[in-house]
Amino acid sequence: MAIGVLVSGTGSNLEAILDTDLPVTVVVADRQCKALELAAAHGIPTAVVERGGDRVEFTHRIVDALDGHDVDLVAMAGFMTILEKPIFDAYPGRVINTHPSLLPSFRGAHAVADALAAGVKVTGCTIHVTTPDVDNGPILAQEAVPVLDDDTVESLHERVKEVEHRIYPEVLRRLVGGAT
Ligand code: GRF
Repeated sequence: MAIGVLVSGTGSNLEAILDTDLPVTVVVADRQCKALELAAAHGIPTAVVERGGDRVEFTHRIVDALDGHDVDLVAMAGFMTILEKPIFDAYPGRVINTHPSLLPSFRGAHAVADALAAGVKVTGCTIHVTTPDVDNGPILAQEAVPVLDDDTVESLHERVKEVEHRIYPEVLRRLVGGAT
């Protein structure tokens, strides 16, 4: 049961995954990013699929990049492009995401800033199955993170990420274990 990881950014969640013995066989990015360097440093094959064309066509190219790496489970780790039907057809119920809020609150790309702006006292992170309905798939795990009075988006996101780094690999472990 191998995992393909999709990334766009710094790759701290990827790093947390790679720090375990989870079987990651490929890392695919939609842009040049630090996460790719991290994957390469771990000797993991990488691919860049630049955005362009429509999203369905882009999604086909992502699926093509995962092909050939024995991928059974796709883990989005800070992947910032919305994917369309082809990936859900290729990996039904097996595209997983981590989102930096307690869904269904604060969907979208600015979840931490939105939580802070809303003045909530508690936010957190959610590991969920990805579906065509963005940030709305079945929830696999959640953990709360208190919002502190002097929090900035950066400080709050850092603490949310600390939790993601712990619970995302745990969930992936459960899913990988469950299928063997
Ligand atoms: C994470 O907080 C993830 O939930 C969000 O983007 C962030 C990615 O961080 N979608 P990193 O690239 O894993 O450091």
